[in-house]
Formats: sequence, C-alpha cells, structure tokens
Amino acid sequence: MAETKGGVLTRRGLLVGIGAAGGAGAMYAAMGALGLAPTGQDKEYTPPRQGDFTLSGRASAKVVIIGAGVAGLTAAYELGKAGYDCTLLEARQKPGGRNLTLRAGDRLAELNGPAQDVKFGTGVYFNAGPGRIAQWMVTLDYCRELGIPIETFINNNASAYVHTNGQTVRARTARADMYGYIAELLAKATNLGALDKALTKDDRESLLEFLRRFGDLGPKLDYEGSERRGFTRFPALDGGVPMPDPGTLHQVLAAGTGRAITNDFGYEQATPMFQPVGGMDAIATGLQQAIGQDRIKTGARVTGITTLDDGVEVTHTGGILKADYCIATLPPHLLAKIPHNLGAPITAALSTPVPIAAGKIGLEYGRRWWELEDRVYGGVTETDLDITHIWYPSHDYHAERGLLVGYYNTERAAELYGALTPEDRRRRALTQGKKIHGEKYRQNLLSSVSIAWERQEHIQGGWVRWPSFDSSFTLLQRPAGRVYFAGDWLTHLIAWQAGAMESARGAVTQLHRRVLQSP
Ligand code: PHE
Repeated sequence: MAETKGGVLTRRGLLVGIGAAGGAGAMYAAMGALGLAPTGQDKEYTPPRQGDFTLSGRASAKVVIIGAGVAGLTAAYELGKAGYDCTLLEARQKPGGRNLTLRAGDRLAELNGPAQDVKFGTGVYFNAGPGRIAQWMVTLDYCRELGIPIETFINNNASAYVHTNGQTVRARTARADMYGYIAELLAKATNLGALDKALTKDDRESLLEFLRRFGDLGPKLDYEGSERRGFTRFPALDGGVPMPDPGTLHQVLAAGTGRAITNDFGYEQATPMFQPVGGMDAIATGLQQAIGQDRIKTGARVTGITTLDDGVEVTHTGGILKADYCIATLPPHLLAKIPHNLGAPITAALSTPVPIAAGKIGLEYGRRWWELEDRVYGGVTETDLDITHIWYPSHDYHAERGLLVGYYNTERAAELYGALTPEDRRRRALTQGKKIHGEKYRQNLLSSVSIAWERQEHIQGGWVRWPSFDSSFTLLQRPAGRVYFAGDWLTHLIAWQAGAMESARGAVTQLHRRVLQSP
C-alpha cells in the first residue's frame, strides 16, 4: 500500500507502492517520469540521426553557426550526426572560446594590454577557463562519447587552508570548530527544552545522538576541541602532537572561518568533481575533431545577420555566408552589437544580461612545495583576500614542476587585477599568497600567465548575470526568424560548459524538428 500524508499520496509513498507491485524496473521508470531517477540532465534529448532524413524523405539543411565555443561546437557536433552541413564562424584565432588551456608556446593576447608568452615546462598546463565538472553535468557525457579520459578534480581538501581576517588555519580545523560549537549550542538548547515545541522526545534523542557525532562533543555536550582539528605532528609510534584547543566560540565566530567551509555544499560544487586528463581543452579539441577542422573558419568576425524568408545571410570579415538556418552563440553583449534584422526586442533582450569580470593566474613552480612541505594534494584554499581562491593541482602529483591557480576571482577583485599589467598581477598575487604559505610562495616560481576574461577579444566577460530570468531570457530561447541562440548564458547553468551544451542541444532539437516538419 502506498504511503499517504494527510490522505494525499506522497511521492515517496507512490514509489514504494510501485516498487512493491512492479519491481525495480517499473519503479525506475516511474522515478524517471517523476524526475527523480539519476539519469542526468539530458533524459529528454534525442540526437538528430541520419535516418531521420532518409525516413522522412527530406534533405538536411545548411547551418551557419556563429562562434566556435563550447555551445557552437556542440551544436555542430550534434547536427553533424544527422548530416547537416554546418559551418562555424569563429572570430578568434583558435576555437574553444572560454574553454582555454594554456601551454608552452601559446601566446595570450589581451585587449588594451600586452600579450603574454607562455613559458611553462613540458606537460604543465593552465586551465584559464573552466576547470571542474560536476558528476551530474552533461559535460561528462561528452567526455565519455568523445573518449576523453577524466580524473578527479579535488575541490574540497581538509588539508587546504582557510584564510580569513588575517589568520590561516587548515580547512579541517575550521570545520571542526564551526561544527563543534554549532553542535554544542544546539545540543544545549535541546537539553534546556528550548526546542520542545519542535521536537518529540524521540526527536530530541536522535538529534542529540547526531550532534554528539557532528561536533565530536564531550560527555557534557561541550565542544572541547577534537582530533578532527588536526595535529602539529601526526601520530605514529606515539600519539603525535594534537593542535592546541580551539579558541572560544566568540573567537571562532570572530575569525570568520565559517564563511569558507560551505563551498562544496551546493549541488554544483559537491565533491568529487572531475577534469579531463591533460587539460580542459580536450573537450574543445575532441569536438573539433569530430566535426572536422574544415568546417571551422577562424579569424572570421561576423558583421551582419539577416534572416530571410528562405534562409539566412551572415556577413563576416571573410565574405558572406548563406545558409538555411543560423545558430548564434556569441556572448549576448557582443551579439547585441552586430547589425541584424531580427527586431528591436531581440536587441533589447540581448542587451539585458550583464557581463561579469573573472580572472585567474597560473603560477608555475620548480618544485611542488605544497605537496612536499604543506602536504596539500589538490583542493582549494579559501580566502577573504582579493585572490579569493588558490587551487592546487589535482593531477601529476609528485612531478617536479607544478602549477597553482594563484587567484580566481570575479567582479570587483577581477577588475582590479585585470587593470594591472601581467607583472603587477603576479606581484600582487604573490604578496597575497605569501600571507598563507610564507616566503616559499615567492621562491621557486618559474613563470606565470594571467587572464582577465573581460579583456579577451570577442568574449569580453567571464560570464553574464541576468538581472532576472524574465521574458528576455525566454524570448531568446526561441528562434528569431531563422536564427537560433545558444550559450551557457541562455540557461540556468551560467558559467558551466554544461550550460553551453544543454543550450546547444535545445537549439538543435528545435531546429531539427522544424526541418523535419517543413514542407
Ligand atoms: N563554474 C565556475 C566554477 O566552478 C563558476 C561558478 C562558480 C558557477 C560557482 C557557479 C557556482 O568556478
């Protein structure tokens, strides 16, 4: 019998009922229908197939795709499965967009700034754009489909640091203290009867039992420190030297470490995350190979988009391209500036999202002191400094050289660094990082490269923010004449490759359906 709540069948109750009657298969199907089964984001998506045309007797169409970033490449790849004739116009010299991995020999140009030559050692790379993928994201499906090996990206490391209000502690210490004191407060409030209205006697027992474990509380429900805080010398033949007792609750709260220990609580950053082996650009490269390099025109800046009754005309710096349909994937603030005949509401909608600055610096060191001396293998240090984060590499452990992300910041902090010369960005990043790691942060540095995404030509932003997901957002999710839009900016997965991919799939699905239905 299915479980009910106030006479209403609950979702859980429904599943229990189906499971009993129909077995696991029926239950799983029902979960899918309810949106509960772990099938990923794309359960609705069916890629276009060659057979779609042979069966319907229709011919595939010619599609011009503006922008060869992750959205454009995904769209071309998906349409290619059914034999569409796609051409990608890319204004930059290299496809991939923000999916950018820098290696020795690369040159990174910048608007209103000097170009930087990348001088890393062999095998050292810097993911200047996307750097981590959540398990549920469609990005991993493309890695699987394209045969791109992946490895764990460590986004939460107990041994990494939290630096707030001028103090540095290990993440494990910050967590032990915050969890400990929260547990103590709640346990004592429970025992004083302060929560009696909300809790039955059994609830109280369960809660107390949990809080003891959550906070590692003493017999009197006090938080008195814990081995969870770590050791100044870890146990071996003897018991080691534990970290001294924590400060008072007041001191712990005043230290502000609590701000930095919830980063992986959300569904986007939950650990473990993943990265392609050898650099994030394996995704862009894999898509390009599958599409065919000859379909991608680089250095082709689009100067006009015209939708016609029977096709589209796209003018670019290398000529005019005519096609049946167009998918425009540039950042909205750049698309808005291209002359077109799609109507004023489209321009207004494209002008609505606000570009956000984002920056990163790659610091290459001649020795992995963070592994050797600090015993930090991957992960992220959280700070209240303008560098915001430090990322330690989640790969090639024990190699001689290694690259840290010395800052990864957005908005004001990113604009501040972006306005500096590359040397000044490095100097500032080193001064900040030294506050956490000491003098070694400045020693053994071999080279560095920094990116300010708002200063990247033809991109001009890390990502965008919609003031609200309003009618502009939904307007652009539909075609304007024969022009479709796609990009992470048209999804609720902004600043994720998964957003670009999902959006491309959406545009492809709509376009393909239209082609199959056209007379
Ligand atoms: N995807 C980016 C990152 O993981 C930006 C981002 C951060 C997006 C946090 C959403 C949440 O750093």
